Amino acid sequence: MKLWIPFAVSAGTLLTIASFVGAGWDAPPVETEQIGYRGTGMYIHKDIEKEEALRAANIVPPAPWEADPSGDRAGDIYENVQILGDLSDDQFNQFMASITEWVSPEQGCNYCHNPENLASDEVYTKVVSRRMIQMTQAINVDWKAHVGETGATCYTCHRGQPVPAEYWFSDLEPKPAGNMTQNRDGQNVVAQFAGNSSLPQNALMDYLLNDMPIRVHSNTALPTGTNLAGTKETENTWSLMMHMSESLGANCLTCHNSRAFNDWDQSPPQRVTAWHGIRMTRDINVSYMVGLTPVFPANRKGPEGDVFKVGCATCHNGVQKPLHGVSMLQDYLDSLAKKGPTEVPDYSTYEPGVTQIMAPQTLGSMTPIPSGVMPNTDVAGLPKAVGTAGN
Ligand code: HEC
Ligand code: HEC
Ligand code: HEC
Ligand code: HEC
Repeated sequence: MKLWIPFAVSAGTLLTIASFVGAGWDAPPVETEQIGYRGTGMYIHKDIEKEEALRAANIVPPAPWEADPSGDRAGDIYENVQILGDLSDDQFNQFMASITEWVSPEQGCNYCHNPENLASDEVYTKVVSRRMIQMTQAINVDWKAHVGETGATCYTCHRGQPVPAEYWFSDLEPKPAGNMTQNRDGQNVVAQFAGNSSLPQNALMDYLLNDMPIRVHSNTALPTGTNLAGTKETENTWSLMMHMSESLGANCLTCHNSRAFNDWDQSPPQRVTAWHGIRMTRDINVSYMVGLTPVFPANRKGPEGDVFKVGCATCHNGVQKPLHGVSMLQDYLDSLAKKGPTEVPDYSTYEPGVTQIMAPQTLGSMTPIPSGVMPNTDVAGLPKAVGTAGN
């Protein structure tokens, strides 16, 4: 007898009813905005419930106090101020209070300092912070094409924690079995940096560290042999696009026209901003993050030993403009909106825990060595008489 039929029917009915009336399965309330001509599919959908949570998570902390720009300069008062020497003492103290709130509110000043010797660079986080100050200055000065006048501060990424919530690293897990399967090429695993899809796992390496071209689209209906990009490149590009969409909480049509993904003339203006964003993110990783590798301890690196790197989500945190476009920069114009010295110390010599000053190698009053030329040295670090120019 087919006794199971009435049970199956009633279970099916109950599940159907449940899916309409409760059990938390209801579709979220969605707000839809039409941003293009009717019939072109140019719609942007936003989950309103999520919007409210995002608004709450993106409130900007006020500066601890208004700093007085007059008085003695920090560079004259303190022993080892390499980047922020032009600030007044009050501005410098305000900046220290702010970065404590932005980066290590629970741990306090001692997260970066030995309280017995504030001038020493023995705590690695202080060495990292100095480089991060240079990085933030470069973002605000060199990358206005992306960050505009809104700019970025440490808070844009850190949000009150030592390690920002969103970053990425070389991800080769799970390791493939041996022999023939050795090279999985990042395929067929959950790609945590590409919206948890099964798209290529390490596409961010190609585009946000290396500069692989992001061009896969054909311009003709039939193949003409001019487009050399294959499925592999296309999947890689898609992986990056998933990362960008997820990071901004924005769908593809925020930057593309549905009828011609490649065409710049038909794309919303956000696409051009994103183009600069890709170049800026690459610069942050190549010029700042990677160089700090010897300074970071192992627990601040990925399983392959590379530093955590910046992606679109590191600043954006799920919204189209970080902190909903509210600028914090007006209180930090002298510290973060202009560039101080840009030299870099030799981080490969860094030993944490040793009282020291990590400064770029300066030769005092001696003639600077042309870059790219290694001086002959006999005593460690001291250049031996180098032949005069022209010899
Ligand atoms: C997130 C890291 C960080 C935190 C937290 C931090 N500092 Fe600093 N501090 C630095 C860096 C980096 C420098 C060097 C700046 C430069 O070279 O321009 C510095 C330099 C200083 C100096 C100059 C010391 C000298 O003689 O050269 C003082 C004083 C100082 N900090 C005080 C404080 C106080 C007080 C707090 C807590 C309210 C604090 N710092 C929190 C990173 C930090
Ligand atoms: C564009 C994003 C971004 C900005 C802006 C930024 N940081 Fe960072 N910072 C990072 C990332 C990503 C890491 C994690 C790197 C790692 O652990 O390998 C980090 C790490 C650090 C660490 C090390 C923390 C630890 O526990 O190891 C300190 C300290 C720090 N940043 C200070 C600062 C300060 C101070 C500023 C502002 C002057 C700043 N950062 C601006 C992205 C940023
Ligand atoms: C935040 C803006 C933004 C979002 C969101 C976005 N893209 Fe893109 N897309 C770009 C930019 C910018 C480029 C060109 C990159 C470059 O040239 O460096 C691009 C390039 C592409 C290309 C290659 C075009 C060509 O000329 O070959 C494809 C295909 C593409 N995107 C598809 C997508 C898909 C699918 C989505 C949604 C999953 C998406 N994009 C989401 C900004 C975006
Ligand atoms: C250093 C922090 C930072 C990083 C990293 C970053 N952005 Fe942005 N982005 C900003 C800021 C700040 C703005 C707001 C600029 C403004 O107000 O004019 C912005 C604006 C944008 C906009 C314009 C939004 C609009 O509606 O006008 C797009 C699109 C965008 N970013 C895409 C990206 C993409 C894609 C990446 C990664 C490849 C990225 N961003 C990485 C800081 C960042």
